[in-house]
Amino acid sequence: MKYDRIDSNLYIANRKKFTDKMTANTLAVFNSNDIYPISADSTMPFQQHRDILYLSGVDQEESMLVLFPNASNPAHREVLFLKETSELIAVWEGEKLTKETAFLTSGIKTVYWLQQFPTIFKQMMAEAQGVYLNANEHLRANTEVETREDRFIKQVKQDYPAHQVYKSAPIMHKIRSIKEAVELELMQRACKITEAGVRRLLAFIKPGVWEYEIEAELAHEFLRNRSKGFAYTPIIASGKNACVLHYIENNQQCQDGDVILLDVGAEYANYASDLTRCLPVNGRFTARQKAVYNAVLHVKNEAQKLLVPGTMMAEYHKQVGALMEEQLVGLGLISMEDIKTQNPDWPAYKKYFMHGTSHFLGLDTHDVGLWHEPISAGMVFTCEPGIYIPEEGLGIRLEDDLVVQSSGAPFNLMGDIPIEAEAIEELMNA
Ligand code: GLY
Ligand code: MN
Ligand code: MN
Repeated sequence: MKYDRIDSNLYIANRKKFTDKMTANTLAVFNSNDIYPISADSTMPFQQHRDILYLSGVDQEESMLVLFPNASNPAHREVLFLKETSELIAVWEGEKLTKETAFLTSGIKTVYWLQQFPTIFKQMMAEAQGVYLNANEHLRANTEVETREDRFIKQVKQDYPAHQVYKSAPIMHKIRSIKEAVELELMQRACKITEAGVRRLLAFIKPGVWEYEIEAELAHEFLRNRSKGFAYTPIIASGKNACVLHYIENNQQCQDGDVILLDVGAEYANYASDLTRCLPVNGRFTARQKAVYNAVLHVKNEAQKLLVPGTMMAEYHKQVGALMEEQLVGLGLISMEDIKTQNPDWPAYKKYFMHGTSHFLGLDTHDVGLWHEPISAGMVFTCEPGIYIPEEGLGIRLEDDLVVQSSGAPFNLMGDIPIEAEAIEELMNA
């Protein structure tokens, strides 16, 4: 692990949040991710499943967590099953968790090796009336790959057909959405690493530089600050590329007179940061570029004021739509006539601003959370309005990460990163 060990009290508290919501006489199981193959003997770098990580801190493959608060054997109320480590594994793969370091990491006293799972799980299930299974219920999840968790769910349903099945996902979405102070510190650290990367770019970006050279500068700065790297595939999009919302080729040369959109964020200890800034390649915005930039900044400044306890996300997105509509009329991009005759399911402003304004942020970039419940203190959202004008070769999006406070305006974890157009010009020409 590149990050410092996190205090196990975080995981003890997180498990309590989950078990407090469990029905009596049930147990819950959480699986790690697989190591995903490429071909031959190559694999992708391991990424832990965020739920087992949130509940145990175990950042290792082939791990399982069982929570059974009513187990008659007190040692079985919370149990980790880990891949058995050995001196041979230590030589080839490096250090894996021992029973002792697993306890130091998670605060869980009972640690078995994975090969003991079938026998011990059978005993536990014989005593339990029901089982919580952890299906992926993220609204945007869209993958054909069967995960380790998916395989486990199939197996349990086959082996234990008489048990009542419960859903872990709604509980996880609720508890993960409200961040503990320790988590906010880790997210702030991820944002500070992103800031270091962006500051490095202010003097680096010039006409003629290539998008991938910018990506390399960021990767360098992130890694030297103990991040594993980008929290998500970076978007480094100059000129018209900025109008492709998920542009990740990052293979074009930046031209004099263009604006470059950077949607980039470092991870730290598996927590994501998510930033977007737009910089003029030659250090100065044109009058038109600045007008569009300031329109987006105005919408962002007004929108983020709405990220307060009690706001409903559906209502928030409607209000941001109205803010954006006003700006697009001011820029001459849509007319009052367009608005009068618009399709209410796809309002006129969507021609230039076609994505959502905010998403939950945390261990996942598009983090889990309950979209139909009111916003509460401790939630973290991005705020990221944009205007995309392909006919002008210009796309502007501005994005910060905001912590909802119990009262007053949200706290901006990216608040030290310059955002005013003039401040950016000044720094690029210093
Ligand atoms: N970078 C992904 C997003 O902004 O949602
Ligand atoms: Mn985002
Ligand atoms: Mn982003």
